[in-house]
Formats: sequence, C-alpha cells, structure tokens
Amino acid sequence: MNVTIIGSGYVGLVTGTCLADLGNHVVCLDLDQRKIDLLNSGGVPIYEPGLDALIQSNAEAGRLSFTTDVAAAVTHGEILFIAVGTPPDEDGSADLKHVLAAARSIGQHLRGFKVVVDKSTVPVGTGEKVAAVLRDALAARDLPDAGFSVVSNPEFLKEGAAVEDFMRPDRIVLGVDDDEAGQRALALMRRLYAPFNRNHERTRVMDVRSAEFTKYAANAMLATRISFMNDLANLADRVGVDIELVRQGIGSDPRIGYSFLYAGTGYGGSCFPKDVQALVHTAREHGQRLRVLEAVEAVNEDQKQVLVRKVFDAFGPDLAGRRFALWGLAFKPNTDDMRAAPSRVLVAALLRAGAEIVAHDPVARDEALHALRQDLAAEPALLERLRFADKPMQALEGADALVIVTEWKAYRSPNLAAMKALLKQPLVVDGRNLYEPEAMQRAGFRYLAVGRPM
Ligand code: UGA
Repeated sequence: MNVTIIGSGYVGLVTGTCLADLGNHVVCLDLDQRKIDLLNSGGVPIYEPGLDALIQSNAEAGRLSFTTDVAAAVTHGEILFIAVGTPPDEDGSADLKHVLAAARSIGQHLRGFKVVVDKSTVPVGTGEKVAAVLRDALAARDLPDAGFSVVSNPEFLKEGAAVEDFMRPDRIVLGVDDDEAGQRALALMRRLYAPFNRNHERTRVMDVRSAEFTKYAANAMLATRISFMNDLANLADRVGVDIELVRQGIGSDPRIGYSFLYAGTGYGGSCFPKDVQALVHTAREHGQRLRVLEAVEAVNEDQKQVLVRKVFDAFGPDLAGRRFALWGLAFKPNTDDMRAAPSRVLVAALLRAGAEIVAHDPVARDEALHALRQDLAAEPALLERLRFADKPMQALEGADALVIVTEWKAYRSPNLAAMKALLKQPLVVDGRNLYEPEAMQRAGFRYLAVGRPM
C-alpha cells in the first residue's frame, strides 16, 4: 500500500521504516530540511537499535523515501499518518499546534479518499478537531465532498526496543468512526496491519475517543506501578526490607505480573511525564481531579532526588573537593534520549553542591551536554566541573563514590576488585539496583541501593 508519514521524528521514523519493511511504499515527510537531507544521505537523526540498517535496506529497495514536499507526500499515501510532536504546554496540556498544522497541510493538498491517522499521542477529542480542520480546508478549496476519515491508532512502542515492539505488537488499537467513511478506513487499516494478525487477531477496534484515551490510560497505569514501587522502596529502606524480594513476591501473582515494578530513580523520557500531566490536565478541565495520578507525578518528582539524598546522607551537603563517578545519563538504556532524564536533576544538584563529576554514557554524551547546558544556562560555570570518560572504569579513578543512574548492560557485571582499587573509597550509590547487596558487602563495598538496605 502507499503510506505517508507526516513527521519524521521518533515515532514517525520507526513507523514508516517498519511499514516499508512489510512491503509498503512509504514516504516520510518532515519540514526540517536538515533532517531530510541527513536521512537522504544515509544518516539517522536518533539512536535506536536496528533502525539505521532497516532504513538503509528499505531505502535501497525503493520502498522508503524522505521529502519536504508536502503536496507530493499528501498525494502519495492512501493512508496518511500524523506522527508529529505533542509537547506539553506550560499548563501540562498537550500542545496540538503541530498536529493541527499537519491536518491543515493535508486539507490543502488532498484529492480523493484518504485515511488520516492520528499516531501522535493526543487528548480525547483531537480526532474531531483534526476532522474539523480538514473539513474547513476542503471547504476553502471548494471541495467539501472530497472524502476522508480520521482514525486513531496510538503507538505503544518503547524507546530502545522500538523496532522490535513495532514488529511484534501485543495489540493494535484502531479508533474509527461508526459511519461509511469510517468502515472504509477500517478496511484499509486492517489491510495495512494484516501481517501482524496472521496467527492471532491483535486488533482492538473501538470509537476514536476511547482509542485516544486508551493510550493515556496505558502510560498512566505503567507510571502508577513505578511510583507505587518507588514509594514502597523508600519505606523498605527505613524498615529493613529488600524491595527486590518484594517485587518477586508480588510479581508472581498473575493478577499483578512482574513488569514495570522496578524501583529506581523515577521515570523519565518523553512519554510518561508528559502523558500523566496531560491526563491530569484533561480531568481538571472537566471539573474532576485524578488524585491517584496527581500523586504518581508528585512521587516521581520526589524520586528524582533519591540519589541526591543518598549522596548528601553519605557526605553532607557541602561537596566541595569531592569527585563522583557517574554511570549512565540517558533516561534509560539503549537510547540517547535525555528528555526528563533523572540524571539531569542529579548532575545539577551535585555540581551546585560543589562536586566534580566524571560521567560515562555509551551513547548519550552529546545529548546530555546539550540538555545540561540548557538546564544550567544561568550558571554555566558549573559545567566546568563536569568531565566525560570514554570507558566506564576510567570514570572511577580517584572518585569518592560511584553513582549509577542508568542500567546500561555495560554496567551490569563490572570487575569489583578493579572498581575498588580505582575508587578513593569503596562506595557505590546505585539508583537501579544492579548488584546484589550481599555480594557488594563481601567485596568490601558500602552499597546504597534503592529499597535494598544492607
Ligand atoms: C513508554 C511506554 O512503555 C510505551 O509503551 C509507550 O509507547 C511510550 O512510553 C510512548 O508513549 O511513546 P518509553 O518512555 O520509551 O515507553 O520507556 P519505558 O521503557 O516505558 O520507560 C519509561 C521510564 O520508566 C524510564 O525512565 C524507565 O527507567 C522507567 N521505569 C520503567 C522504571 O523506573 N521502572 C520500571 O519498572 C520500568
């Protein structure tokens, strides 16, 4: 099928590339000429395992191309995905300006029936707003009857595992209108996603509003599990309980399950923080408070300080003359994404307290520096005390402690004896519970994890 993706960011690129790999002819549109030039010259603007090879092979096969030509892109696709950003507004609501601008561009160039798919995470009611913009644009061109139908098809992929998640979905949510155009759109969407439904029907068809809500509910549920465990982990620290054993103890109940119960430094990234805030905002707009989610957000903000608290407990609030090794900057492994990364809170706090930092991250170093320059724009001199190491062990030399923020694989089984020899004192503050407290104790370390008292 002919597919157009509007917005070649994270979700758009992964969606377009994977759909091309399934045999469709995909055109990815973006207004950023530099991004399109980069993609056309074989570069990839984001780090995502497996994506670069897949882009290359599908571009070479002639199934995937990149353009800034709006008219050509809109004409190309029978199905047009809107996959542009919905950044949070100042009040926490999702800013729809890019989504509605994309709808306007479609309306300006559309001829004949098109399925317009909202792939971006958008609040309930956005499908109707997109349809209204399309109708207005068509009326202005004197084409009020040119057909279209707006479908909601939220994305559930995780950064760092995006290609795998797209290619092996556990569900495909389709929100469609209950009219003739909606049924026509549904038939086309079913054809597009047929390869995923061969052995097992994964499509969940519903109305547009429910589909839009489903996306927020999924992220809100996952964020709730994380904040719940972080809250319990802090209590576990006080009452001498190992939260890891508790996680296994409760996860074995199939009603609870094991996933997304890892205590840590709080959730970050571009989705959970933004989507929780947006849902809280939607509720308030409708005169309701989502009290559980408001608490989820408050607990998460507080949890981003957990490592700062542990460092201050160990060294006091004045860190002048202290040096810390820091492993991991990205908000999670296998990505260079620094959006809402807990490491930003830690780095700023340690630098402000006078510390020196030697940080390592396998891929996020440039993104991290960019983010930290923004965070510390008013106090740029602080960054003079931040250095980067090329290898994890190099960061440890002469450091007063190692602080672990992101659970990259490379940090999972270090040579403990070498680690101890490099550190000035054998202290590891671990925000991801990577090691067994007993093993650390045997190796002669003081080990401060999250909810795992020694
Ligand atoms: C999340 C969802 O998992 C995806 O299903 C969804 O499609 C995506 O948001 C989105 O809305 O686009 P993502 O933000 O890429 O995906 O990453 P996750 O793996 O979900 O991790 C989010 C944050 O939660 C990370 O900071 C991670 O460290 C933290 N986390 C996760 C925990 O602290 N504990 C856990 O047990 C799991």
